[in-house]
Amino acid sequence: MSSSILVTGGAGYIGSHTVLQLLLGGYKAVVVDNLDNSSEIAVKRVQELAGEHGSNLTFHKIDLRDKPALEQLFASEKFDAVIHFAGLKAVGESVQKPLMYYDNNLIGTIVLLEVMAAHGCKKLVFSSSATVYGWPKVVPCTEESPISAMNPYGRTKLFIEEICRDIYQSDSTWKIILLRYFNPVGAHPSGYIGEDPRGIPNNLMPFVQQVAVGRRPALTVFGTDYGTKDGTGVRDYIHVVDLADGHIAAVNKLADPSVGCEVYNLGTGKGTSVLEMVAAFEKASGKKIPLVTAGRRPGDAEIVYASTDKAERELNWKAKYGIDEMCRDQWNWASKNPYGYESPESTN
Ligand code: NAD
Ligand code: UFG
Repeated sequence: MSSSILVTGGAGYIGSHTVLQLLLGGYKAVVVDNLDNSSEIAVKRVQELAGEHGSNLTFHKIDLRDKPALEQLFASEKFDAVIHFAGLKAVGESVQKPLMYYDNNLIGTIVLLEVMAAHGCKKLVFSSSATVYGWPKVVPCTEESPISAMNPYGRTKLFIEEICRDIYQSDSTWKIILLRYFNPVGAHPSGYIGEDPRGIPNNLMPFVQQVAVGRRPALTVFGTDYGTKDGTGVRDYIHVVDLADGHIAAVNKLADPSVGCEVYNLGTGKGTSVLEMVAAFEKASGKKIPLVTAGRRPGDAEIVYASTDKAERELNWKAKYGIDEMCRDQWNWASKNPYGYESPESTN
């Protein structure tokens, strides 16, 4: 019997790519999502991409804070583990609407953990973020680097990490892996699933992509006076398919009796500036990206990239793709779906 994994937020960007890799890896995947920031079309496409494995995917439109609905799901099916992606993630919005972020991200997680415990499902992989490294004094960031938060979104990640550590302290039968993602970009090479943010994109590559397809006139570069090679901010961009594979490695690791509550960075270990990323995208797409320069974005760090040693050693996982492949696949998705899942030519 194949293992059954509950994936919260599985209709979203990282979730949909991870569900596909789970299915292709022979797992059953049960997606729970309230579709607040995603489309059910993504779930349908994952099912199609998975071919003969597609029948191992089921979808439930449930908000995690709806405890009776979650209870009912856990009562009707047994899950071997949960991958918990569901959450709100826009940094700026979290500053404007902190209670919405604390309610959704913290209450959603607490309800999930309560229902898991009540049904004896105590294996969890959680989406944390490199945001917990704040403005790192030393790079690369290792899992032992100091952690802090600069905004309510970041604090939800920090608090949930602490909640997980407390739960494990209180009951060592839990097995929890906290994955700190660096900057996920790109799309599945098929161009059939990808990132489809609502409204004006906050993040670099979704914005670049919308400039390339003519939806926005120019990219604003936030800060050209950093102490970096070209003055622009440096990040560790990771292909979303590599990131998805990192989750499969984490789920496999949960079977290891030595696992308690562990943290792993998922990045490439390489730093790339904004201008380098734009140049790579221009090369991949053949499109010129007009630039406008502006001051630094509040709360942005100068240089953030990962130490990948621990994940390589203990999860036996390493990112395979570089920025050229990330940009190639991002452009493939963007050119086929210029308006995301709602593109007239792509909706099905
Ligand atoms: P996403 O918005 O595409 O996916 C999140 C999904 O969760 C969405 O489909 C949304 O509808 C769903 N959701 C939100 N609240 C819910 C609730 N209460 N109940 C049920 N479903 C709910 O985001 P993503 O980029 O795929 O990110 C997934 C996770 O990874 C998030 O927790 C995010 O904070 C974290 N993360 C993302 C990044 C990034 O840059 N994309 C970086 C670090 C960490
Ligand atoms: N940038 C621009 N113009 C834009 C958007 C971004 O110049 O329109 C720059 C930023 O200033 C930064 C770099 O591009 O130097 C990357 O910015 P992103 O917003 O894409 O990514 P961040 O590293 O700032 O943050 C993202 C998520 C966080 C998450 C973090 C690490 O927004 O939630 O990655 O995973 F925590």
